[in-house]
Amino acid sequence: MSKGQRVQRMFDAIAGRYDLMNRVMTLGQDQKWRRFVVEKAGDPGHGRMLDLATGTGDIAALIRRSRPEAMVVGTDFSRNMLREAKRRFPEAIISWQACDANHLPFAHNVFEAVTFGYLLRNVDDSLAVLKEVYRVLRPGGRVVCLDTTPPARNLLYPFVRLYLRFGIPLLGRLIASDEAAYSYLTGSTMGFYSAEALAGLFIQAGFADVGYKKFMVGTIGVHWGRKVVA
Ligand SMILES: C[S@@+](CC[C@H](N)C(=O)[O-])C[C@H]1O[C@@H](n2cnc3c(N)ncnc32)[C@H](O)[C@@H]1O
Repeated sequence: MSKGQRVQRMFDAIAGRYDLMNRVMTLGQDQKWRRFVVEKAGDPGHGRMLDLATGTGDIAALIRRSRPEAMVVGTDFSRNMLREAKRRFPEAIISWQACDANHLPFAHNVFEAVTFGYLLRNVDDSLAVLKEVYRVLRPGGRVVCLDTTPPARNLLYPFVRLYLRFGIPLLGRLIASDEAAYSYLTGSTMGFYSAEALAGLFIQAGFADVGYKKFMVGTIGVHWGRKVVA
C-alpha cells in the first residue's frame, strides 16, 4: 500500500473524532492559526480560492465567512473527512470535491489563492505538490500553508519532545481510540522539514515573497508566497 493510501485510510478512520482531538491537543489554539492562514491568503474579491486537504472544512469555512464574494473550493482525498465537512457546514456555499493534491483537476492559472492545512507532511513529494499548486494559481496569486514543524533544540525541547512522544499518542488513544494515527502525527512532525528548509522548498517551486511565522513554541509553522507575475 502506498503512503497516500495509508494516509487516506487513516483519515477516513478518524474523521468523526478529528475536530475534538484537534481542539484538545492544541489547547484550543488551532483555529487561531487557521484564521492567520486566511488573513495571509488575502481578499480575492470575486475570484476563486482553493483549500486543499480541507479535511473537515475549517479553513474553507473561515474563508467563506470572511470572503463573502469569493468562490470557495474545498478538496480532500478522504471521503469521510469531506462528509464531516459537509455535515458541519451545510449552509456554506462551498464546492466540496474529492481529489488528490498530487494531481489537481483544475486548469492552469485559475485560483487567486490556495491554502492547505497539514497536507505537505502527509505526501511523498512536497516539492511536486507545491509545483502543482503553483500551476493552478494565477500569476500574483498567493499560497499559504499551515503545518507542524520539528521543534527547535532549545530549553523547552525536552518538554515539547515529551508531549509529542507520549502526550499526543495518549490523547489519540483516549479521544480518537487510535493511538497509531497520532503516533504517526508525532513521527511525521519530527521527520518533516524545518521551517527554514520548507521556505527553501517554496522558493524551489518558483514562489516569490516567501515568508513564515511559527506558533505554539515553534511546533507549528505558517508559510506563504506568491506566484511570480511573468
Ligand atoms: C490533518 S488533516 C487537515 C485537515 C484541515 N486542513 C485542517 O486544517 O484541519 C490532513 C488532511 O489532508 C488530507 N490529505 C493528505 N494527503 C492528501 C492528498 N495527497 N490529497 C488530498 N488530501 C490529502 C487528509 O485526507 C486529511 O483530511
